[in-house]
Amino acid sequence: MPSSFEDAASPYLKGLPPYRHGRPFEEGGREPVSEDWVKLDYNENPLGPSLLAVKAIQGVLHGINRYPDCQGHDLKERLAERLGLSAAHVALGNGSSELIDLCARCFLGLGDEAIIGDPAFAFYGRVIQAAGGQRVSVPLKAFRHDLQAMAERITPRTRMVFIGNPNNPTGSCVPPGEIAAFVTALPEGVIVLLDEAYREYVPDALQPDTVRYAKEGRPVIALRSFSKIYGLSGLRIGYAIAPPDCIALIDRARQPFNVNALASAAALAAIDDMAHLVSSRRLNEAGKRYLYQAFEELRLRYVPTAANFILVDVERDGEQVVRALAEKRVAVCSTARYGLRTSLRVTIGISRENERFITALREVLMTN
Ligand SMILES: Cc1ncc(COP(=O)(O)O)c(C=O)c1O
Repeated sequence: MPSSFEDAASPYLKGLPPYRHGRPFEEGGREPVSEDWVKLDYNENPLGPSLLAVKAIQGVLHGINRYPDCQGHDLKERLAERLGLSAAHVALGNGSSELIDLCARCFLGLGDEAIIGDPAFAFYGRVIQAAGGQRVSVPLKAFRHDLQAMAERITPRTRMVFIGNPNNPTGSCVPPGEIAAFVTALPEGVIVLLDEAYREYVPDALQPDTVRYAKEGRPVIALRSFSKIYGLSGLRIGYAIAPPDCIALIDRARQPFNVNALASAAALAAIDDMAHLVSSRRLNEAGKRYLYQAFEELRLRYVPTAANFILVDVERDGEQVVRALAEKRVAVCSTARYGLRTSLRVTIGISRENERFITALREVLMTN
């Protein structure tokens, strides 16, 4: 009889710390929720959700006594039509996070190796461990995934390679040609998880042709999210694009009603709201220009971003700077857990938020 639940836990979970966001401050143990906070820590869309999505949710609210459509039929059809694929190429998830987890559970077993960048989205390492796999970390080169070094680390035990594109926390992208060459040279039995949570922010010329990979039956799973540019983080919805036999497997591993009715209705409306998408992208570009200039004036180095957040080196203890900013009610993300101790990650906000962040940062840097 084990003496504690920890002793009884699956060996994969032993030693896995609870999920913590990179926020070394709290407001009474909760998210900083009050209005006077400038929230630039979660890479959300500061413009809010599409109003068409909000209206769509209102339209289905009175039906929430019913289970949602277990197959997500309408949304999958709509996404497939948009992508020029069939619904069999699309799986839906409770956020793209659920799909990251499902993919790890589908393709990793005890001792299987999964290659990830270092630093990369912290969740990859967690799902690999929880699935019993072995994480193989490959340092980024000039803040970008080093696909050549990742290819060199593939062994007969390798089952998956995780590529965040853009990568979190660096915001960097790998040129599409490099991804294509990497995919073409993959040994049999290795699957690439191409995490495109921020895809809609990426300049067109930098977007890999993930749809073609799905059409050609390549071992690539592209993951996209409604949490970022579509502004639906609170609803939890994302999707995977992959060859049909891969999608069928993900479908077998998921819960029956993994995507709720409000999320599906909102996503269905949001993908048609081009005006919201265009303004969100524009706002992001303007905010990016403002922040780049401000960092240059402050003589701080930053990583040029293809997403809606920027990694900036504050040349002193980043976590302390994050705490000092929080005292001024500006929330940004510490990158200490990624080993980037003198940096922080800031989401690009609306102009008022960016200005408040820069004013606060200037003050903090002067006194630290
Ligand atoms: C690179 C990356 N992938 C996936 C996710 C998860 O997004 P979702 O809200 O769709 O689960 C995030 C969230 O921040 C992210 O940064």
